[in-house]
Amino acid sequence: MNHGGHDWKPEQARKSLKRLLPELEAEFSTRLEPVAFDWHRFKNRLHREWERLFSYLHELYGWQYDFHYTLERILRSLIESWLERPEDLRRLDERREAEPEWFQSQEMVGIVLYVDLFSDHLAKLKDNIPYFKKLGLTYLHLMPLFVSPHGENDGGYAVSDYRSINPDLGTMQELEEVAAVLRDEGISLVLDFVFNHTSDEHQWALRAKSGDPDYMGFYFTFPDRELPDQFQRYLRDIFPEVRAGSFTWNDELQRWVWTTFNSYQWDLNYANAEVFRAMAEEMLFLANRGVEVLRLDAVAFLWKRLGTDCENQPEAHTTIRAFNALARIAAPALLFKSEAIVHPNEVIRYVHPDECQLSYNPLLMSLLWEALATQDVRLLEHSMRTRYRLAAGCAWVNYLRCHDDIGWTFDDDDARSIGIDPASHRRFLNQFYTGEFPGSYARGKKFQENALTGDVRVSGTLSSLAGLEAALERDDSELIERAVRRITLLMGIQVSIGGLPLLYAGDEYGMINDYTYLHDPRKVNDSRWVHRCRKRWEAKEDLADLDTIEWRFFRETAKLFNLRKRLPALYNGGMEVVETGNPHLFAFLRAHAEQRLLVVTNFSETDQQLDPRFVVPWVPGGEALDHLTGTRITVTDGLMLEHHRAVWLDV
Ligand code: GLC
Ligand code: GLC
Repeated sequence: MNHGGHDWKPEQARKSLKRLLPELEAEFSTRLEPVAFDWHRFKNRLHREWERLFSYLHELYGWQYDFHYTLERILRSLIESWLERPEDLRRLDERREAEPEWFQSQEMVGIVLYVDLFSDHLAKLKDNIPYFKKLGLTYLHLMPLFVSPHGENDGGYAVSDYRSINPDLGTMQELEEVAAVLRDEGISLVLDFVFNHTSDEHQWALRAKSGDPDYMGFYFTFPDRELPDQFQRYLRDIFPEVRAGSFTWNDELQRWVWTTFNSYQWDLNYANAEVFRAMAEEMLFLANRGVEVLRLDAVAFLWKRLGTDCENQPEAHTTIRAFNALARIAAPALLFKSEAIVHPNEVIRYVHPDECQLSYNPLLMSLLWEALATQDVRLLEHSMRTRYRLAAGCAWVNYLRCHDDIGWTFDDDDARSIGIDPASHRRFLNQFYTGEFPGSYARGKKFQENALTGDVRVSGTLSSLAGLEAALERDDSELIERAVRRITLLMGIQVSIGGLPLLYAGDEYGMINDYTYLHDPRKVNDSRWVHRCRKRWEAKEDLADLDTIEWRFFRETAKLFNLRKRLPALYNGGMEVVETGNPHLFAFLRAHAEQRLLVVTNFSETDQQLDPRFVVPWVPGGEALDHLTGTRITVTDGLMLEHHRAVWLDV
């Protein structure tokens, strides 16, 4: 609707709010009076965000006859959840609103872990806070810990109830306690928001199965193959080894159900305003438990459109922005992290202060591995030069490994522009990291080989992929040293290049692959379990123990993390790739608050020389302090870097 170019939406937005708010204020008056001052601030935020919220919701649901009802229900949910927000979280909201860029600090360092694998249950997690502190961690992501099906559950990514914790792990009250203790210790709690799908055992799915039309409307179900076949033509299979196609026949319903991932993960239908409203309530419920960052799972798949691959649709962005606006109003301390493991052009579109302030950085992750295997940094250099910059107020979450597989994401034209054939390069990388390539040190496992397209991804721990497993097996100290250096090389970049480094628990002590999943029928078909290790390292501070490989890693990791915190130049912000004239050397400049750091890294298996022409201009005095070793280095004759070594020069 366009009335002569005049944008009618702001006016209509104000009108709607004017109608709705007084009624709701009257309805909630007895609960609002005692918190009059806070309510005032809530309303300020509401007025600040309302226009955009209205416009997102209008875009998604404005065509439905009951749009005004949708607005009312959502506003009511907002007020209710805000009323339930505990006092200390409201104070946290104030602090975060006063300092919205808190997460950009170089002090931020994260870890992600499965509670059962790490500490059996929530109660014992608290005992590990000293361990976290030693590593300097400020951000703790607990992998899905909600009630989920007993059999296969995709590592918890099939959620049956967003409000209950899996009883093996603890209770919601324990989670709140953990959140509060962590908050006191300066550690932010991060949880997943698995909002693209529920498990087929969620109440909504159960009611849908029983034939309740309201709940059938929560999902995509089809009486026959007509539409599924039309959609399917454009869809990719995420787990091709498990099953072909994105639809599952359900006997109870006698219908096909849309299941992008596993057959027990039912995609939610966000074209239904009730789904949006219901999930918004779950989101705000989690925020009120003390969760400070929600990792938005599988964002790319949220919206379906016939004739497209149903990934990264514009409405997926609008939906997330609408959630973002709700959070800004009712739980402003809450941030979003996007999990979009898709083409780099698309990944970046989810990152915006109005959408997800944080995002995984799959491009950096995959290209670090790429450069390690090829010992050639040109693709990394080229891609980072052009693709690293984010909107102000946002940050990358840089990771080397996570609970998922590695897919070789990079732009094909980027590769071609430096003479790399993308398809054969990906084949090479798969062969290299699964150890098939002659001379490879890596011990990865194939993940989800697609018989039709030949695509495959790679599973494996940081250490096993970097050669430690093979080196330990051979008990060869020279090979062990090489593997250790490769790992520290990658970690050094992860903590310095800009953004929040996220450690995958276990990597701080050099965890290698765990093959026990092969004997578990619930896991054997999913090689990602090879890096979701059962084995644990008890960090006993027994001095006799300190020479072990585990301690060596632990010390290196803690050193890098803590060094990061001391260097203002590493505050999130600009990163400038610096030319080295040597295809094995990757270098970049970080600058902030009067400090400049020149980071130079050597990806080669041999020592490499940085020509004086490329380093002298950055180091006017000819000499600079290297923060990694604490020594001063003269660069007038260039710089000699041993294999897999790096320098962080204060220039
Ligand atoms: C995300 C998770 C992955 C899961 C998928 C489906 O990609 O990281 O582990 O399989 O979503 O929820
Ligand atoms: C994710 C990604 C896919 C990934 C999978 C889980 O959402 O899109 O590439 O491998 O789900 O492992």
